[in-house]
Amino acid sequence: MGLDAIGMKSLFDGLLKNMNGGVFVIDQDMTIHFFSKAAEWITGYSHEEALGKPCYEIFKSDICADACPFKTVMKKGVPIKRMSMVILGKYGSQIAISRTAFRLKDADGNTLGMAAVFRDTTELQNLRQQLLQSEKMALMGQLAAGVAHEINNPINGIITYIRLLLRKLDENKVDPETWKKNLGLVERETKRIGRLVKNLLNFSRKTEPELRSVSMKNLIEDTLPLLKEQLLLKDINLIKKYDDNIAEVLGDPNQLQQVILNLVLNAVQAVEKQGKIKITLGAEGSGFVHFNIWDDGIGIPQEDMEKLFDPFYTTKTGQQTGIGLGLSIVQRIIKAHHGRITIQSEVNKGTTVSVRLPTL
Ligand SMILES: Nc1ncnc2c1ncn2[C@@H]1O[C@H](COP(=O)(O)OP(=O)(O)OP(=O)(O)O)[C@@H](O)[C@H]1O
Ligand SMILES: [Mg+2]
Repeated sequence: MGLDAIGMKSLFDGLLKNMNGGVFVIDQDMTIHFFSKAAEWITGYSHEEALGKPCYEIFKSDICADACPFKTVMKKGVPIKRMSMVILGKYGSQIAISRTAFRLKDADGNTLGMAAVFRDTTELQNLRQQLLQSEKMALMGQLAAGVAHEINNPINGIITYIRLLLRKLDENKVDPETWKKNLGLVERETKRIGRLVKNLLNFSRKTEPELRSVSMKNLIEDTLPLLKEQLLLKDINLIKKYDDNIAEVLGDPNQLQQVILNLVLNAVQAVEKQGKIKITLGAEGSGFVHFNIWDDGIGIPQEDMEKLFDPFYTTKTGQQTGIGLGLSIVQRIIKAHHGRITIQSEVNKGTTVSVRLPTL
């Protein structure tokens, strides 16, 4: 006796009243016949309001009209397992839910209707959003510290040269050569700030790429002219090798251009005058495109390899100033494209950066 004698009805009644998931039952005409306590809490409708109404009047969702999944559940008997969607509550609020649904049959196997169990996942989704946001904020804090430092140096330089010019102007002692030299320095420092701001914008921009079909070959060819000046200045021996018929990738052309620019620029900065840089593009099976950038430059010591992708990690000082954002931007973009980046290097021999991207 004891618990064994418990009536199934009382068990189910208790369960339905006390469980956190909302439950509702509809017949084949979509009319609601049962609406549990938790269903009331989640949607804001009382069961008196819900009973007898078609389900799409209570669970307003944009899939109701065109793609109602309940009909398939009832006709084919295929249950819905954990489907996420957003419904409109009684008071107009958007409620994220996750639901499952299954067919109800009579003893002869005839379909009577369908039951659905659903959970309010709004809070869970908010938490996820908050987590993402706080990760971003932590990164922004890091960024702000670096930016303050980075912007200060060129601004000090600019102020110094301008003061110098003003003083000489007061003394009536400025010859065109000095003007030119000092203004040239002001220009260089201002460009540096411009570059920093541009990189920062790229860094903080949304990571979701705007996807379309991209030919990496065309993109590389369109991007290299932007680096003409740097390539000429070092008289670089640039070799390009593209395989034929390479599939297009699904990508954001602006972001992928950032990748190419940053990687080629790193290679240019790593080599001596008349250094060699080789860019290759090939297919890896039918699913991937890989493009490699090889240089015969200074290389990277083994112990520094793991820091390369850290924001603000740079070894470039003096003439060749770096901010250390290049590779971290590149890595984020490639991740967002479901690709992979690897770097191999040997000091004084050179570096190969390999990028693999999934094809369309
Ligand atoms: N091809 C390469 N050869 C040698 N070292 C490299 C190469 N690419 C990157 N590195 C090393 O990795 C560091 C980080 O690169 P990253 O592109 O992130 O920053 P940066 O080039 O220093 O500055 P920024 O790209 O922001 O102007 C560089 O400072 C350099 O030490
Ligand atoms: Mg760089």
